[in-house]
Amino acid sequence: MKIEEIKNQLEKKKLENNLRTLKIFKEEDLNLSSNDYLGIGQDKKLKEEFLEKYRDKILFSSSSSRLITGNYKIIRDLEERLNKIYGKSSLVMNSGFSANKTIIETFYNKNSLIITDRLNHSSIYAGILESGAKVVRYRHLDIAHLETVLEKYKKDYDDILVVTETVYSMDGDIAPIKKIVDLKKKYKFNLMVDEAHSYGVFGYGIAYEENLLKDIDFLTIPLGKGGGSIGSYIICDEIYREYLINFGREIIYTTSLPPVNALWNLFILEKMEEFSDRRKKLWELIDFSKEKIKELEINAICDSQIMALIIGDNKKADIISKNLRDKGYVVYSIKSPTVAKGTERIRVGLNPNISKEEIFNFLKEFKNELNSIF
Ligand SMILES: Cc1ncc(COP(=O)(O)O)c(C=O)c1O
Repeated sequence: MKIEEIKNQLEKKKLENNLRTLKIFKEEDLNLSSNDYLGIGQDKKLKEEFLEKYRDKILFSSSSSRLITGNYKIIRDLEERLNKIYGKSSLVMNSGFSANKTIIETFYNKNSLIITDRLNHSSIYAGILESGAKVVRYRHLDIAHLETVLEKYKKDYDDILVVTETVYSMDGDIAPIKKIVDLKKKYKFNLMVDEAHSYGVFGYGIAYEENLLKDIDFLTIPLGKGGGSIGSYIICDEIYREYLINFGREIIYTTSLPPVNALWNLFILEKMEEFSDRRKKLWELIDFSKEKIKELEINAICDSQIMALIIGDNKKADIISKNLRDKGYVVYSIKSPTVAKGTERIRVGLNPNISKEEIFNFLKEFKNELNSIF
């Protein structure tokens, strides 16, 4: 790319009020933008307990790919624990992005059809692009439309993958995976489900809770959100695992995460059931927020721990989020084209460390800002 073009593209972003920058937030402010939905990543007591238990085993580099010497025993211990919980094979990966991308690019090719919810994450599209498969997008969460697509293409393809997330990151709405599993029985496709925003909030995930694991060919569990960590798990049949180890570029040609992460991930996994008190508190906070949103007549989507407070304009979303940050709330605007035009918003991620009083005060401040700008 020529430097002139780079300059032009950045200038265009600026003119559209859409230039991204990297910000540092003040730690004393109320963080409403974190995806640490159970508040475990920031928990000092948990950290102390972890250090006490594992201090001598901690290493900060694995120094090699899992295929060479980066496959520490602790990673295998973690996978064995996952196998027991999920009743299938598991593969620890370095991130949710690489898990999604590597599954799709490794197993699918130009003879495949990939049918994807149109709002699926960028990592899913990265895999699709790399695979060379034909891609068809169905309307967000619209199962009738998914069936129309399946009906239309079923004669032309015998290698079909349907991909969905569970909780969606921008609206916090939830896919009806049971209905997709029912379609699978009729149309015989492979199914991939991404639990990035549901792991932790729904315990081991929605697929586990709804007893749907045996019908899901590839379950991905990114850990950077409710998992309070980094890395990801792929839950699949053993033959897929073996194939990924042999052909998955994102596992073969990358240094594996250091043992400290596997230790922490195992520590958290072992505690997942104990975290039910945090989940209860979180759901109480979600219900409380919904009630207050209604009371204050705020245009919002709030079906889960993710709240979308709609503003409907890029510039105004920027001004409001900046004013709220000045008042001590860590919030950022989510603008078009990341979300549809007219739904530009502030996205809030709830967690049980936020009190009801704090969220109520924030919602009142948001409403004041909205009133003064429109
Ligand atoms: C739905 C979804 N899948 C995958 C990812 C990527 O996971 P990771 O951050 O672990 O790369 C994200 C966001 O980060 C996500 O929102």
